Amino acid sequence: MKRKDYLMPDLKLEKKRSSKKDNETAYRDFQMSLEANRLGQDKKYYVKTYGCQANVRDGESLSGMLEMMGFTYAEVPEKADVILFNTCAIRRAAEEKVMAEIGNLKYLKKEKPNIIFVLCGCMAQEKDVVEELLQKHPQLDLIFGTHNLYRFPALLQEVMVKKIQKVEVYSQEGEVVESLPVKRSMSSKGFVNIMYGCDKFCTYCIVPYTRGKERSRRMKDILEEVSALKKSGRKEVVLLGQNVNAYGKDLHMEDGFTDLLRAISDTGIERIRFYTSHPRDYRSSLIDLMAERKNIMPFLHFPVQSGSNEILKRMARGYTVEHYISLYDEMMKKIPNMTFTTDIIVGFPGESDEDFEKTMNLVEHCQYDMAYTFLYSPRVGTPAASMTDSISKEVKKARLQRLNQRLREIAAKKNKVYLGRIVRVLCEGISKKNEKIYAGYTEDNKLVNFSCPWNCMDEIVDVEITETHSYTLNGRVLEK
Ligand code: 5AD
Ligand code: SF4
Repeated sequence: MKRKDYLMPDLKLEKKRSSKKDNETAYRDFQMSLEANRLGQDKKYYVKTYGCQANVRDGESLSGMLEMMGFTYAEVPEKADVILFNTCAIRRAAEEKVMAEIGNLKYLKKEKPNIIFVLCGCMAQEKDVVEELLQKHPQLDLIFGTHNLYRFPALLQEVMVKKIQKVEVYSQEGEVVESLPVKRSMSSKGFVNIMYGCDKFCTYCIVPYTRGKERSRRMKDILEEVSALKKSGRKEVVLLGQNVNAYGKDLHMEDGFTDLLRAISDTGIERIRFYTSHPRDYRSSLIDLMAERKNIMPFLHFPVQSGSNEILKRMARGYTVEHYISLYDEMMKKIPNMTFTTDIIVGFPGESDEDFEKTMNLVEHCQYDMAYTFLYSPRVGTPAASMTDSISKEVKKARLQRLNQRLREIAAKKNKVYLGRIVRVLCEGISKKNEKIYAGYTEDNKLVNFSCPWNCMDEIVDVEITETHSYTLNGRVLEK
């Protein structure tokens, strides 16, 4: 039996937000010990990332740290000496996927007893989930949370040298740590965190607990990262934050996100996108800037969650449907070619037939290009998890199906107008089946599969659309 060293998460602390007075964010640069530097000699690693793009970006830093330690990348877990599960906690289904995957790989521990299993990310921040993990999967060697990502090399060293089982989860965010090494996963574009955490506490959501309070990165650090991406030949930056419109609040900036976006646009990078906007912190200045700048893409992911004011109130979203629609109308007036996507939760506790019909009505008004739709999943410790819910699973599933069907019809209709159009596509990948078929995104974020006689990876090319589907377009590249 291995010696155990546990620092477990604590929900009460995760809930806590510091007072306005000491709301300043502190910054520090990453450093790695010399011992950790040699830890990975002749060893391989495998990282499996689940969930949102913020997690993808964390995965890139984890890979960067592993490579700095001397580990090399393994294509499959079977070839690795360290296996890392970078997890997501947004819904129970995401957690179950991770649990199953750890179980599936258990046999590797028998074949190679020195293999190290590591789990990090949002699941590590949930006390009951960590307890479940330790009970079901005692083969996990190391669990650490989202707030001490930068501690990974030191923690891995301790686990490998002392041969202990370690849990180290901080329940409150500390400093923002800059200059973490990074191994970028894409050569066409780069993900850039502009802020961490969320202070919104929507009643269904676990993120404010697992990711901590809102902390903005300094503008100069963000601009340096964008410039480095541009210099490396990348055509696009994707700015990330749970709630990007709140950028700079903690830096006492008056209109932080718009100011940041303007400065990033000034770097001359070809394409800028950002996720995710919250209707509550929305400012008109943002849409004015988007209309003015060619390199800010005409696309907005604008989560609404529900079309019923009653449900929005119980979700604590902080806006009404009428307000959301007025913002949508203003944006469409100022940027008529803008595409729009959203997130919708179906089956929130107490959602009546009428509430759901209101969501269907909203979808008719906004004619979304796409929507990510989810069945509500109770998260331990969030207020909604203790709300009474009398609607059956069957009813919820039927609603979801009906919503998805209507969204698909709207998307198909909206995509039809692209037939015969010539669009600018940033090529991001090759079809698995046919290496002459490429895939990429238009300026307004439509996924296009297209043929091209030359290797156009990472290039922006003109593509003529020859066929349309609900969520993809097909086409062929125009000769240079
Ligand atoms: N159940 C279902 N969906 C959820 N989301 C967040 N929390 C939950 C939950 N408990 C959805 C929201 C959010 C998206 C990232 O995930 O729609 O915008
Ligand atoms: Fe979750 Fe709401 Fe914050 Fe989004 S804004 S991360 S849904 S609490």
